[in-house]
Amino acid sequence: MTYTFDMTGKRAIITGGAGDIGSAIAREMHRLGAEIAIVDVSRNIMEKCREIESDGGAPVHGITANLLDRGDVRKAFQECLDAMHGVDILVNAAGICRRGESSEEFSEKDWDEVLEINLTGTFLFSQMAGKEMLKNGFGRIINFASMNSFFGGLQIPSYAASKGAVSLITKSLSNEWASKGVTVNAVAPGYIATQLNPFYRTPAGAEQNKIIVSRIPAGRWGKPEDIVGPVLFFASPAADYVTGVTLPVDGGYMGR
Ligand SMILES: NC(=O)c1ccc[n+]([C@@H]2O[C@H](COP(=O)([O-])OP(=O)(O)OC[C@H]3O[C@@H](n4cnc5c(N)ncnc54)[C@H](O)[C@@H]3O)[C@@H](O)[C@H]2O)c1
Repeated sequence: MTYTFDMTGKRAIITGGAGDIGSAIAREMHRLGAEIAIVDVSRNIMEKCREIESDGGAPVHGITANLLDRGDVRKAFQECLDAMHGVDILVNAAGICRRGESSEEFSEKDWDEVLEINLTGTFLFSQMAGKEMLKNGFGRIINFASMNSFFGGLQIPSYAASKGAVSLITKSLSNEWASKGVTVNAVAPGYIATQLNPFYRTPAGAEQNKIIVSRIPAGRWGKPEDIVGPVLFFASPAADYVTGVTLPVDGGYMGR
């Protein structure tokens, strides 16, 4: 049996697709032939789409939406469907992290917003895409978990709660949909250098950065591109019998 990562004819929705990891995934899926709809709140969304589209190939649609607004979420999904006439692959990469001084002082706003974007946004997009995919008897959903799906971290209770729950809804949805052709998996990135964590690249974060790197068996932070291969694997026929999994992509960090 030969496997292919070719994505010609596939239609992929990528939430958070204007972000560092999401855009790396969008770029590579597009290069492999997929039509892409990027859903993001970022002002850079159209710029990213044009940049990805510049090498030719299938269209890249930019759909501006704020995942804090459930009306926006539903409208954005419908716009994706209208633009691509369906969906085969969903990547739920949109996410935020809020850090508090301490959990006892953690604000309700930071609790609500992180859960709304990371967890409810992932669930609603999966639910809407899942309905379409079940009709077609084929779909691939790839969620974004985290190292904080496995351990709680410090001062980030809503992020840890959201990512722990993302890992579990990955299993819940997989349990219901796997027999109907829809697989649901998650990647759990380790320390990936993106806009989400600039602190560690400032002079104030240098000491903590040293501690982090000393604990990563690979000896370095991950790059957004390090997450792309595992996502492509989940989206490909090579992973037809892989579902309900949360895969650490962390340079070996989980093994420490
Ligand atoms: N960078 C890491 O070390 C790391 C580790 C574990 C998990 N992750 C997860 O990877 C995913 C991608 O993160 P990243 O590191 O590329 O960060 P990023 O900030 O570059 O990307 C996140 C994207 O989500 C979008 N987004 C944020 N709030 C939104 C909203 N309300 N509505 C719509 N879009 C919104 C942002 O505009 C951005 O484009 C996230 O789910 C994050 O939690 C990242």
